[in-house]
Amino acid sequence: MSNPKGLEGIVATESSISSIIDDKLTYVGYDIDDLAENSSFEEVIYLLWNQKLPTQSELDSLKQELADNMSIPQEVIDHLKSYDLKTVHPMAALRTAVSMVGLYDEEADVMEEDANRRKALRLQAKIPTIVTAFARIRNGEEPIAPKSDLGFAANFLYMLKGKDPEDIEVEAFNKALVLHADHELNASTFTARVCVATLSDVYSGVTAAIGALKGPLHGGANERVMKMLTEIGDENRAIEYIEEKLANKEKIMGMGHRVYQNGDPRAKHLKEMSRQLTGITGETKWYDMSVKIEEYIKENKGLPANVDFYSASVYHSLGIDHDLFTPIFAVSRVSGWLAHILEQYSNNRLIRPRAEYVGPNKQAYTPIDQR
Ligand SMILES: CC(C)(COP(=O)(O)OP(=O)(O)OC[C@H]1O[C@@H](n2cnc3c(N)ncnc32)[C@H](O)[C@@H]1OP(=O)(O)O)[C@@H](O)C(=O)NCCC(=O)NCCS
Repeated sequence: MSNPKGLEGIVATESSISSIIDDKLTYVGYDIDDLAENSSFEEVIYLLWNQKLPTQSELDSLKQELADNMSIPQEVIDHLKSYDLKTVHPMAALRTAVSMVGLYDEEADVMEEDANRRKALRLQAKIPTIVTAFARIRNGEEPIAPKSDLGFAANFLYMLKGKDPEDIEVEAFNKALVLHADHELNASTFTARVCVATLSDVYSGVTAAIGALKGPLHGGANERVMKMLTEIGDENRAIEYIEEKLANKEKIMGMGHRVYQNGDPRAKHLKEMSRQLTGITGETKWYDMSVKIEEYIKENKGLPANVDFYSASVYHSLGIDHDLFTPIFAVSRVSGWLAHILEQYSNNRLIRPRAEYVGPNKQAYTPIDQR
């Protein structure tokens, strides 16, 4: 049996949703660069779930359906209020709340394709509401209902802050959502597929995926990038700080990737947004520091910046709390998880690999009083 550590290089399924070939990322064959420059996040959701770009009327109906399904049960809001608001991480709150929303969905265990697509839509619509509701509740504020005349990206920022966002904020946030939407068989998407391949339900698949995204080697890296930048504090300290971390054999968050060898194609878009937004806020130090670190790590370790590296200073510049960075990743990536869940159901087989046994053999059982 071959057993590459971390399943490196193993092709575990076929998929028509997204691909990484020669360091190029495409969604359903559309280059991520084109989508980042031109499309709304809602168009990308439609693309991932239908394998085609929507017409105007198809897009309008998707937007309407998302707007109609954004509210969450009052019981879930009450539950969010009952957490220890000083210590509970928003990713843990999101994981629990998504599972709980499933309790209030009468179709949760209905496995027909149409029902699964309806659940996908409901979950995509409700996740931003959960994230923003929890963010407000822990600040002692009431959750805000979405505005039906705002798009997905604008509504998120509106529900978070309680005021209409500026155009540049919506543009940046929309682009970040587009760039994070799907990424072939990343750890959380694989988790979702493994879960639903047992013919478990959509809510279980997404809850499991949120758990996988939370880890620092995956989506949890973006929050830690900002923690690192804050610790560094001053651009002139950046290299000394990084050298110390590397000498201690610590990983630099936001750097490196399992698949990309020469660079993550999403990073350049986030880098440019970081440059623009930090210019507007006047806190150019976050961008300058990031560029220094990126160049140093590339030169000394041969590792490229990944999607999480510049998204940190982008979200910070949008005035978003640092521990909401990974939940925002989930707000976008759930579109990809749901596409993969629907694809898995459509041609399912249980995912059950093997382990190479390396433990002891031929042990003689000793009764407990003789051990
Ligand atoms: C993304 C990541 C998990 C991919 O890991 P992987 O393919 O399993 O690679 P490994 O962790 O086995 O690392 C291979 C080598 O590169 C080094 N390396 C990888 N990423 C590194 C990083 N961010 N900082 C410093 N060294 C790193 C490892 O220490 C290891 O070196 P060694 O062979 O001398 O021991 C890894 O690059 C990482 O941990 N990055 C930081 C977390 C992050 O940004 N995650 C978000 C990913 S989108």
